[in-house]
Amino acid sequence: MPAPLKLAIIAGDGIGPEVVGAAMNVLAAAAPGCGAKYEATEFPFSAAHYIETGHVLDDADIAELKKYDAIFLGAVGGQPNDPRLAGGVIEKGILLKLRFELDQYINLRPVTLYPGIDTPLKNKTSADIDFVCVRENTEDLYCGIGGFVRKGTPHEVSNQTMVATRFGAERCIRYAFDLARTRQRKHLTLVHKTNVLTFAGDTWFRTFKEVAADYPDVKTDYHHVDACCMYMVAKPEVYDVIVVPNMFGDIITDLGAAIAGGMGIASSGNLNPDGTAPSMFEPVHGSAPDIAGQNIANPIATIDSLGLLLRETGRIKGDKAAIACGEKIGAAVKAVTPKFAGKSLDRSGYGTDAIGQMVIDAL
Ligand code: IPM
Ligand code: MN
Repeated sequence: MPAPLKLAIIAGDGIGPEVVGAAMNVLAAAAPGCGAKYEATEFPFSAAHYIETGHVLDDADIAELKKYDAIFLGAVGGQPNDPRLAGGVIEKGILLKLRFELDQYINLRPVTLYPGIDTPLKNKTSADIDFVCVRENTEDLYCGIGGFVRKGTPHEVSNQTMVATRFGAERCIRYAFDLARTRQRKHLTLVHKTNVLTFAGDTWFRTFKEVAADYPDVKTDYHHVDACCMYMVAKPEVYDVIVVPNMFGDIITDLGAAIAGGMGIASSGNLNPDGTAPSMFEPVHGSAPDIAGQNIANPIATIDSLGLLLRETGRIKGDKAAIACGEKIGAAVKAVTPKFAGKSLDRSGYGTDAIGQMVIDAL
């Protein structure tokens, strides 16, 4: 029997502690029936912790987190435009640091229209909106390479470099092909902008073509990112699996969340598929300080991210009970979403705790 899953919990700021709390109650209720065992340890990393102590997340913290099997994160970030948090200190210092240092090179973002959830797309149903974005998570504009010359003068120069490596593109593309192979449609679309990004895009395009030769059973396509935005709205049914570099992936997955019902539903996993360090799971939404502490935030995205955590970590660790528990939580979420029919996910009138309880009842 596998050892208990060691979970590092970073509840974070704003609504983070509320939605993570609801999800942990679901885990406590779901685990025993599946034989899944876990130990949860809380970590304080957050904007509030930084403001209080000046501490963001250092190398010793990374070393400590490496001892865990997975990280479960609610949301980090303070009030928009808080001068104390200027310069992306929390984004760079916590979220991106974890993604880079733990080599979480895949950001897996499902775009699935669940039963009963409203899409803003006219005449589209769950049959049309069911795909998954594989966003590269450790390269591209996110490397933070660049700088200023003559800052603050009329001759100011700034640049920020897009980084694409053959190694980084290939491991991400191979992951996406492997995933496409497990799905019914076995279809993979590369999204980039090769007509303008003739260097970075070319690395991705050639790598994609070469890797495709190893996957003759997977059908492939290529879309420019601007066209992809149009298709996601007009014809989302063309997508099964999308593989996309980091910055474009950031943008199109917000659009993906919107067509699948909004940020209240969007889950994600920052994966280190090789298991050399823990993966991290989080809702796509932020800390929403304006609605924090009122028991009104919808915890569905966080609960669904927990299901993803159990399935993916279970797969990486070979823990069948964790996989079963993740599947059970995923199924319970789908059983609950019809209750939101005709309501907005964000203003459903159901409280955070009540929605958590609905999922527990559906387990
Ligand atoms: C996301 C977020 C982050 C990103 C920010 C907060 C750094 O938008 O997870 O999509 O750009 O990746
Ligand atoms: Mn984003």
